[in-house]
Amino acid sequence: MTDATATDLSKDAAATAAVALVEPGMRLGLGTGSTAVIFVRRLAQRAAAEGLALRCAATSKATAQLAASLGLRVEELDDIGWLDLTIDGADEVDPDLNLIKGGGAAHLREKIVAMASDRMVVIADQGKVVDRLGQFHLPVEVIPFGWQTTRKLITRALDALDLGQRPVLLRQRDNKPLLTDEGNLILDLALEAIPDPQALADRLSRIAGVVEHGLFLNICHVAIIGRPDGSVVEL
Ligand code: 5RP
Repeated sequence: MTDATATDLSKDAAATAAVALVEPGMRLGLGTGSTAVIFVRRLAQRAAAEGLALRCAATSKATAQLAASLGLRVEELDDIGWLDLTIDGADEVDPDLNLIKGGGAAHLREKIVAMASDRMVVIADQGKVVDRLGQFHLPVEVIPFGWQTTRKLITRALDALDLGQRPVLLRQRDNKPLLTDEGNLILDLALEAIPDPQALADRLSRIAGVVEHGLFLNICHVAIIGRPDGSVVEL
């Protein structure tokens, strides 16, 4: 089995296990990314087979489009008001269930939806489980106005935390700056390790041009980690 196949099977196992958490009438947050896509597909199959009445809020335009195309009822978060459960992927999960998210540039809406939920459950393959956050570049959503100044302020914040001179990279797609669903830019922080995630989160949040960073601290309740043989472990 190739590594890619093992990863796909693991994502499928985690997504399938998460579908079993859904109960009739639930108000659900739907995540973004390849694992969330599998979850949405499996959820739509189950909802159709069992006639489940669900109300869903999506964390990105892509997920909203997919879910609606599969027959799920997608509404604005504010129209639903509060959610019972959000299921989403992650780029890294540490032993305290702190996360890095935003690999799909959706962490702003993902965090808003997760924080409006009674429970947030992460679905991921084993490759996302780390001892310490930071190998994955930390995404930071910034407003386009003055973004280079915001980048300097981020660099200063990293210096103040002794994180050293680390690249802060403007995310590109098709050789153009990537724009998020909110029309903002993403700066990816190549940190290698984040010894104190809370201190970094606090510093970043104090910078005016920063809309939201991809550190999800004390937000996730459970992580379902899939394995290639179809089994899962819960963290
Ligand atoms: C999008 C995210 C995703 O959940 C994260 O990037 C994981 O994606 P995948 O399931 O494709 O590995 O945070 O902003």
